[in-house]
Amino acid sequence: MLLTNYFEDLSVNEVNTLPRRNYFIPYKNRQEAQENPNRRDSSYYHDLNGTWDFHYFENVRLIEQPYWLSEKSEQITFDSIAVPSCWQLSGYGQIQYTNVEFPIPYNPPYAPYENPAGLYRRKFTIDNYNSSSDYHINFEGVDSSFYVWVNDEFIGFSKISHSNTEFDISSFVHDGQNEISVLVIQWGDATYLEDQDKFRYSGIFRDVYLLERSPQRLNHFVITPDISEDLNTASIDIQFLDFRELGEIHFSLLDPNGDIIENRQLDVSQSHTIEIESPVLWNAEDPNLYLVLLETENETYRQEIGIRKVEIKDNQLYVNHKSIKLYGVNHHDTHPETGMTVNLDNQINDLQLMKNYNFNAIRTAHYPKTAEFYELTDRYGFYVMSESDFECHGVVDLYGLGENDNYNMIADDDRFSFAITDRMESSIVPFRNFSSIIMWSAGNEGGYGIAVEKALKRGRELDSTRPLHYEAYYYHNPNIEYDETYIDMYSRMYPSVEEIDDKYFSDTINRPFILCEYSHAMGNGPGDFKEYYDYMMSKDEFIGAFVWEWADHAVNINRNSKEPAIYRYGGDHGEFPHYGNFCMDGLVFPDRTPHTGLLEYRQVHRYLRLKKYDLESSTFTFKSTFDFTSSKNHYNVKVEYLDLDGNVIDSEDLDDIDVPARESKDYHLKLKHSFDDILSLRFVYFTNNDSNYNEQGFDYVEVQSYSPAFKESQSNVTISYEDNIGSIDVQTDGNLIQFNKADGAIKQISKNNTSLLNAPSTWTVWRAPIDNDRNIKKEWYEARYDHSSTRIHSYSVNETSERIELLFEGTLNLMGRQNLLELTIKWTISKNGEISLDLNALKDPIFPFLPRFGIMMPLNKSFNDVSYFGNGPYENYVDKKHASYLALFNASIEDLYEPYVTPQENGAHANVKKLNVLNSESDIEFISEDGISFNFSQYSTQQLTDTSHRDQLVIEDNHYLHIDYAHSGLGSNACGPELADEYQLNEDEFNFKFSFKI
Ligand code: GAL
Ligand code: MG
Repeated sequence: MLLTNYFEDLSVNEVNTLPRRNYFIPYKNRQEAQENPNRRDSSYYHDLNGTWDFHYFENVRLIEQPYWLSEKSEQITFDSIAVPSCWQLSGYGQIQYTNVEFPIPYNPPYAPYENPAGLYRRKFTIDNYNSSSDYHINFEGVDSSFYVWVNDEFIGFSKISHSNTEFDISSFVHDGQNEISVLVIQWGDATYLEDQDKFRYSGIFRDVYLLERSPQRLNHFVITPDISEDLNTASIDIQFLDFRELGEIHFSLLDPNGDIIENRQLDVSQSHTIEIESPVLWNAEDPNLYLVLLETENETYRQEIGIRKVEIKDNQLYVNHKSIKLYGVNHHDTHPETGMTVNLDNQINDLQLMKNYNFNAIRTAHYPKTAEFYELTDRYGFYVMSESDFECHGVVDLYGLGENDNYNMIADDDRFSFAITDRMESSIVPFRNFSSIIMWSAGNEGGYGIAVEKALKRGRELDSTRPLHYEAYYYHNPNIEYDETYIDMYSRMYPSVEEIDDKYFSDTINRPFILCEYSHAMGNGPGDFKEYYDYMMSKDEFIGAFVWEWADHAVNINRNSKEPAIYRYGGDHGEFPHYGNFCMDGLVFPDRTPHTGLLEYRQVHRYLRLKKYDLESSTFTFKSTFDFTSSKNHYNVKVEYLDLDGNVIDSEDLDDIDVPARESKDYHLKLKHSFDDILSLRFVYFTNNDSNYNEQGFDYVEVQSYSPAFKESQSNVTISYEDNIGSIDVQTDGNLIQFNKADGAIKQISKNNTSLLNAPSTWTVWRAPIDNDRNIKKEWYEARYDHSSTRIHSYSVNETSERIELLFEGTLNLMGRQNLLELTIKWTISKNGEISLDLNALKDPIFPFLPRFGIMMPLNKSFNDVSYFGNGPYENYVDKKHASYLALFNASIEDLYEPYVTPQENGAHANVKKLNVLNSESDIEFISEDGISFNFSQYSTQQLTDTSHRDQLVIEDNHYLHIDYAHSGLGSNACGPELADEYQLNEDEFNFKFSFKI
């Protein structure tokens, strides 16, 4: 090989790099620094992003000539590529999504002999080149390792994909045109330490820029805020860790209004403490930022600082002396068009969405972000757990080594200590001045042992002001004595509430508890936010929980065209190994359209809620869970009035509602409408910080209970029946309803000689498995729930002057298995035109819980719309129902579809007391006292079961109406605990009742 092999060397992460420093961008002068928070506006910032020449080599080891040198570069051809980008998305190499398993054979420090590389090359001129200046080139992210040459001279080498690398290229550049070559290597020893669950992309995927530096300069400074016990005074401590040719520096401090409150010369050889009287504090709800300007003769530095203090006390997490909780989400850098290259707008968009959905915390899963991201989290107000770029999860998949018993193979191997510790250091040093970061995480899923302990120790040495987090401590070997002083909190992923309660809270807890991941948001779900939320709120030591995860990861294969997006996930690119659709597990679709799970999160985590009320005195008590600010700083409130049918008839702003942080307050509301005339009230909370008035949650007050009734009550409908071959045919004033003797279900409904069903209806237990049915579905298939039928053994007809009663006795059968249900099905056809079902089912308890139970009617396609009184407007299930409420809603069949990228059960509405299924002439009207669940879909359950991508679904000739007794809940068992018993449809006996009219 033509290169010194650093990429398979555990003792080398960097060659010739500048010492790590805090992130900053030098500005020309104070005014420029003060006025330009965006680094691209600094005169010393030279953007090197853009179009670069690119040549892809299948194998770095077989490169025959040093084509990175100009005399050789003419011997190969170059394509062009965008910097930053991921080369797999420009047509080079293999797109691959893998989760736990390593993408290469396990053979550290070696990578496969065949090891692709990308040569990037561009020319650049330096505006206003100044021979007395220094020039530092910065790479914010390159996957996996890279060598750099400038004007044919070797500059250096670096690893750690998500870290900043800075080289001094001053003595290699000149006025006029310069040339840079970067050779990026796909695999190396780093691959074993960056085994995060993500698409495995390569290339220069983050910004590249050149900084012009004055010889007199600051290289590294650390600013640490502190606050007095009574919050009346604060201080910031400034340390100058690295500088050149500098004696003094001019310091100024601007308060959040932009007024200068301090202005003085500081001796850089000493550290300084600046006192601030009556400080305006930073917290996630009210992210006030001071601005520090540090001015030298030729350079000025800006650093926004939030005055805040983070502590672990009494086994709780304190911010500014208040015990708080983290309502968090795990955030990967992912985009369907650009992969792990995300720009500032993408990041802003994500953060704004998170704010609008009641998150206050982010875990940077599973590597540090760019500095600009932390600037944004400082400004928008998020508590950030910032994670080191370290994960070696694949060791649990090694053959025969005991899976999780082998978790610590790398973590407890001292040969990895340097590499892991250096990763920790690279994740902390640049970002220490960002106030939003409130804890450091030593990585994800790396096991525990001596190497990780050293990394944690290094973290503590670098920063004693922030707690440390590391989840895989849970897997430490209890027979080895470790120094546990770095374990500031117990962290877990995916335990059930019961397990948390048993393991951590049954005895006295001696550390705070945190869920770094929970509520796996894959597909239709999660169904357990409320359980976790309620439990967390009941324990002061339970300091926070981060949903897994923010966004679905996918590749839009139409990314270079104007065609609608087509999303592909693991295994769709011909890769091996892969982990299928496990990357489709976010609260938002790849394009950031919210999943209904996100709406559920928002509702459960609303910061204002109705605690109690008394209708007689019209007193409503609202409670705020904001920690620092009164509710009106965030939420406006209005009340909606629903009439007796469930229509919203009026609404009224309630401008007075303003509850102080963490308090409850009574309001005597003079409401516009008399309680006699209304069914319910809905108090709706809106954001007040933008013009969109986004809903942030609501509370619902039932004033009267709703009794469903048919629109028209008829009497004396002529009813008669005929007992025919195969069916019992009932006539009601010109309508024909045929009841199937085979299964006791409705075979056909004809109205004015038009058939409403395209095929007989059937009793059904199957749903298209959701991702959270991942485990239970194995049992469902084993039980043959996907091959059920109903067999009626006997029937009888009983006719009176008022009604005809049909009674069917039989069983619900499973192919090749014993009977699942004993069924007694009673249909009553009354003279008022109503047809009522009263079904009794006895379940053989040996079988697993049921996906659902109900009747499915394949309606003809003229039926396109519904109107329903029930839980809406969003899809809802027994455990994912909080974002919905009881009212009258209208929807078309298209509206009812939730387009999960992997097709699965979707769009159910439960607690429905009345349902009208409409076409232009008729209306099938259902009512149910107990409430039914319905789905109305253009896709059969079978098609949703069999299809792997939503774009492959074909609209069918039937519009499938499901009227269900119930569905099992959703849970989050894709990765989380089993569906809680209470949400399983597993009764030994149940009764299913509804009535309908045509
Ligand atoms: C966790 C892991 C995440 C992700 C998730 C499953 O174990 O930390 O990175 O893989 O499971 O989606
Ligand atoms: Mg993992």
